[in-house]
Amino acid sequence: MSDDTVKYLLSERDIPTHWVNLLPDLPGEPLPPLSPATLEPAGPADLTPIFPMGLIEQEVSMEPEIEIPEEVRDAYKIWRPTPLFRARRLEKALDTPAHIYYKYEGGSPAGSHKPNTAIPQAYENAKAGIKKLSTETGAGQWGSSLAFACGMFGLECEVFMVGSSYDQKPYRRSMMQSWGATVHRSPSTLTEAGNSQASHPTGSLGIAISEAVEVAAQDPDCNYALGSVLNHVLLHQTIIGQEAIAQLEMAGEYPDVVVACVGGGSNFAGITFPFVRRNLRDGEKTRFIAAEPAACPTLTKGVYRYDYGDTVGMTPLMAMYTLGHDFVPPPVHAGGLRYHGDAPMVCGLVKAGLVEARAYKQNETFAAALQFARSEAIIPAPEPAHAIRAVIEEAEAAKQAGEERVILFNLCGHGHFDLAAYDAYLAGTLEDPEFSQADMDAAVANLPDVPIPA
Ligand SMILES: Cc1ncc(COP(=O)(O)O)c(C=O)c1O
Repeated sequence: MSDDTVKYLLSERDIPTHWVNLLPDLPGEPLPPLSPATLEPAGPADLTPIFPMGLIEQEVSMEPEIEIPEEVRDAYKIWRPTPLFRARRLEKALDTPAHIYYKYEGGSPAGSHKPNTAIPQAYENAKAGIKKLSTETGAGQWGSSLAFACGMFGLECEVFMVGSSYDQKPYRRSMMQSWGATVHRSPSTLTEAGNSQASHPTGSLGIAISEAVEVAAQDPDCNYALGSVLNHVLLHQTIIGQEAIAQLEMAGEYPDVVVACVGGGSNFAGITFPFVRRNLRDGEKTRFIAAEPAACPTLTKGVYRYDYGDTVGMTPLMAMYTLGHDFVPPPVHAGGLRYHGDAPMVCGLVKAGLVEARAYKQNETFAAALQFARSEAIIPAPEPAHAIRAVIEEAEAAKQAGEERVILFNLCGHGHFDLAAYDAYLAGTLEDPEFSQADMDAAVANLPDVPIPA
């Protein structure tokens, strides 16, 4: 056996004690969310009908570090710390001088990074005396994670699952039900929002969010939980990047580039924000690449405007790159990336030029995923396949330059529930839908008329 290390492992004692809050370090003043009723800045009072105060405080906090409650760290022990792998076999297959590392979040109970925030969200709601959480899910990863977390803290869980994913991934529904959740295909006939969107049977994250928010707003014992986009969700994911920093130190390396896919931005924030802060504070020069689908190219083609987080317009408006809250992306298999907007913090970094965004078509991401699976063995979810596509480009660029660049990415989930998508790719029947100018014109036409301050 060679001495080459493949896995860098931390012990349970090394689970971070604090989350990293990037908000105070971001360049410029943060643009506040706006109330959908008044279009004035939304304060904590606008959020209390659907969120507990513990999470609202995290949402608006300007503290650079926020302590992780003991109960949350105890629950994290079930699957954390997660391993950091050196992708030696992929490096060899690509014949690249680059050193490729990946953090693997697929070993969590739900199979992705989403439990990192599901646990603290369920914890804070249970602490506030809430009995039930409602939510949306795209790929099913978030719904599964919240179902599992609700079970741990004695909460009921009701999930609106995007129609196309519900059809593509029946076993994700089984998984949520196994943990005790109730699951509806969205758009459903149970809510006004769902009924108003019956003409979009494939559904979208925006529609499913409207349904879940409606349920929470009408029931005082029920709150809403979001799996991405909001500041507190991004905050919870920063344990990924903090662990990665410690693990790369074990390897004696520091990344030249960090790559992650972006749906709403939480996985991207989770792996990058601790490194972004080092760039901002300590003058490190790491590059950051956000990978998204060409079918839903929010960061690469969207407009930077105030827009609703959901289709019907029930959530606060956020300053973000958006394709329009009523945009229904084609049913690509990376269901977790089918969101019209992105986290304001991630959008702010793209706008400031601190993060580069790239969009990829479905077939090229599956080609990259298979190359990864055939060298590193883990079958990736379709979402991180976008990141892998970008990693392969970066590894090829390192080869062209003859440089030993260090590339880090987040393998944020496994693809065990996505094998129908792999089947379609292998059968050559996978389509490559792209966002058109007509889509763009339609998206901009329906945006709320709220200027972003210069
Ligand atoms: C495996 C996986 N990766 C990435 C995402 C995208 O979400 P986010 O950008 O919040 O990480 C999802 C969302 O469901 C997902 O399931």
